[in-house]
Amino acid sequence: MAMRRVDLAAIDRITNEDLLSELDPARLPRHVAIIMDGNGRWAAKRRLPRVAGHRAGADAVRRTVETAARLGLECLTLYAFSTENWKRPRYEIRALMDLLVEYLAKELHSLKKNNIQFRMIGRSEELHISVLEQIRKGELATFQNTGLRLNIALNYGGRTEIVDAFRKIARDVAAGRVQPDQIDDELINHNLYTRSLPDPDLLIRTSGEMRISNFLLWQIAYSEIHVTETLWPDFCERDLLAALIDYQKRERRYGRIGHLEDVPA
Ligand code: IPE
Ligand code: IPE
Ligand code: MG
Repeated sequence: MAMRRVDLAAIDRITNEDLLSELDPARLPRHVAIIMDGNGRWAAKRRLPRVAGHRAGADAVRRTVETAARLGLECLTLYAFSTENWKRPRYEIRALMDLLVEYLAKELHSLKKNNIQFRMIGRSEELHISVLEQIRKGELATFQNTGLRLNIALNYGGRTEIVDAFRKIARDVAAGRVQPDQIDDELINHNLYTRSLPDPDLLIRTSGEMRISNFLLWQIAYSEIHVTETLWPDFCERDLLAALIDYQKRERRYGRIGHLEDVPA
């Protein structure tokens, strides 16, 4: 397929169709993970309360999930609430949880219709029962779907996930089910919340922050990272397309040398 080169610096003047034609559907990332950041700053710019930013952020989730499903992505993991976000004011936590419940209740029909499989990753223990009920309902109603695998990271922390995996493995070792020498990458993967998912190929962070904030620490060992200045509530189809195009321009080497350098002297 003849690929036209789109200059992402001039993205404001490019139509979504142009961006779409730039994308090679055969080389889409299998798994895209997103750190959805910037809701508070979006609200502050408009002199609105932070919660208004989260509400607008929920609309961006809806749009992004729809676009990802339409493009035929295999997995999409969205960071919705970190283990550190409990340090926020109570009313903000409450609003975030309420929005999640509302999103799931409203979107269940469309998740089913679009053949999307929904799952939560994170520690479920600390979540309010009403939140957990809605999540389990969503998981149960969609687990047989075969399209996009949508994972919401809720009460998620990369270190907590690794701690939980250590605990499970230690129990298996203590019970004699696993020998210490059998502990390898695969066994560790198998004990993470993400056990059935491929590692993210592409990690997107919105709002320009250059940090990981405890997201998928083990799994992003070789993910390509795309940071956009767009604040999460403004994130739309073209931002996702731009990130995917950026990803397709990368050469993933996994420690090897570049493919053009592999010519004998
Ligand atoms: C992301 O937006 C949403 C969550 C972390 C839950 P923020 O609320 O972190 O927005 P900023 O970073 O303060 O702008
Ligand atoms: C990361 O955003 C967590 C989520 C997007 C859920 P934060 O806003 O919590 O991250 P920091 O505090 O800026 O690192
Ligand atoms: Mg933030």
